[in-house]
Amino acid sequence: MNSVAALGETPTRPALSAIPLFSDIADELLRSVAEAGRAHAYTAGHVVFRRGDPGDCLYSVLSGELRAFTSLDDGSELDLQRLKPGDSFGELALLDGGPRSNTVEALTDCHVFSVSREAFLDALPQSPRLIAAVLSNLVAYVRTSSERLLRQELEQRAIRAEMEVERLRALTQMVSGVAHEINTPLGIVNTAASVVTQRIASDALTRDVVDPRARAALEDVREAVDLIQANIRRAHGLVGNFKRLSVSQIADVKEALSIADVVRDAVGLFAINARQAKLDIQVLDALDDGGQRWIGYRGFLTQVILNLLTNVERYGYPDGTGGRVEVVVAEAARDPEFTIVVRDFGCGMPPDAVSRVFEPFYTTGRSKGATGLGMSIVHNLVTSVLKGRIQLASEPGGGTAVTVAVPKAIPD
Ligand SMILES: Nc1ncnc2c1ncn2[C@@H]1O[C@H](COP(=O)(O)OP(=O)(O)OP(=O)(O)O)[C@@H](O)[C@H]1O
Ligand SMILES: [Mg+2]
Repeated sequence: MNSVAALGETPTRPALSAIPLFSDIADELLRSVAEAGRAHAYTAGHVVFRRGDPGDCLYSVLSGELRAFTSLDDGSELDLQRLKPGDSFGELALLDGGPRSNTVEALTDCHVFSVSREAFLDALPQSPRLIAAVLSNLVAYVRTSSERLLRQELEQRAIRAEMEVERLRALTQMVSGVAHEINTPLGIVNTAASVVTQRIASDALTRDVVDPRARAALEDVREAVDLIQANIRRAHGLVGNFKRLSVSQIADVKEALSIADVVRDAVGLFAINARQAKLDIQVLDALDDGGQRWIGYRGFLTQVILNLLTNVERYGYPDGTGGRVEVVVAEAARDPEFTIVVRDFGCGMPPDAVSRVFEPFYTTGRSKGATGLGMSIVHNLVTSVLKGRIQLASEPGGGTAVTVAVPKAIPD
């Protein structure tokens, strides 16, 4: 409940004429507005009106300070406007007759003049200056509040993107850390298995064991050790992949390069696979000759492109159907950046796959031996070492486009 003390007294005309909204209107009209309105006192913290309340009055601040704010979906509040003496507010709901679109509360003890909707709508047609003043007040309000809302939205998006990058970084660090830990015991098991293989193959054993049951047991041991060794090789391969997640495990040298050449060379490395998979890969270079200089890493960017092309082959155009692939190198519209887009026109991905594509181990190809690390490695390379950004857009049946943006000169 508002603890409003309606002073009930009309502010003097000079007090009203100090309010810009009313400063230009004729004396007579000013008098009737002053008579139709009343002054209120609010103590700090009290609410003048809430979002959703009926818009029944126009307000002008006579003294003190108030704030207009709106509550966001996450429960937080976004300040839209600070209201100081001379400022008017609440005209939006008056004009459209709708409910209040935000809440206004007193920040300090304050005095506010209010005039009812009827009196205000009566006064409006009598003074073109009042109409102009109301409109300019409205425009200023809409402009500042939409700027604030936009800034807030952009900040939240940046925070969400940052959190996602952090989450993926933590996950990949964990995986590569586990891989590192597993490596040593795996090596010991491997050595032990080799020793067993050597010993059971030794002449002493094969010659002296004549009992058929002992020979059969020995044969069983040999098969078991073969199985152990085959699986150690597989585990070793997986650990190698997991370690690739940690970019610190890969070395590359930063140098001055033509980015278009690096991209063309990477596509060239993929040529044999492309032929087999019937992929028609076109490199489109939108840069001028002089504008291709990139201070970057050939090896890392090559890995990124090869991973993306491998996915196009495997998932974009599965079953060797083949199709068109575009690799576009261009200059980003903003900032000194290059963008590389790898686009296919194949199967595409459903939204839940798009949101998980950069997670380590997310794969739809596990039955075909995929581990789901490719895009995670790509993400890591782009954000950590190439100091850039990556984005994937895809929809079922509509193909997939991966956009990588990297600085023209990668900072140290
Ligand atoms: N161009 C694409 N078209 C359709 N789906 C794709 C495309 N690229 C990736 N995907 C989907 O994203 C998943 C994750 O890709 P990612 O490269 O991380 O793993 P993977 O290719 O399955 O395994 P790995 O790269 O470790 O061999 C894939 O399993 C696939 O479902
Ligand atoms: Mg892959």
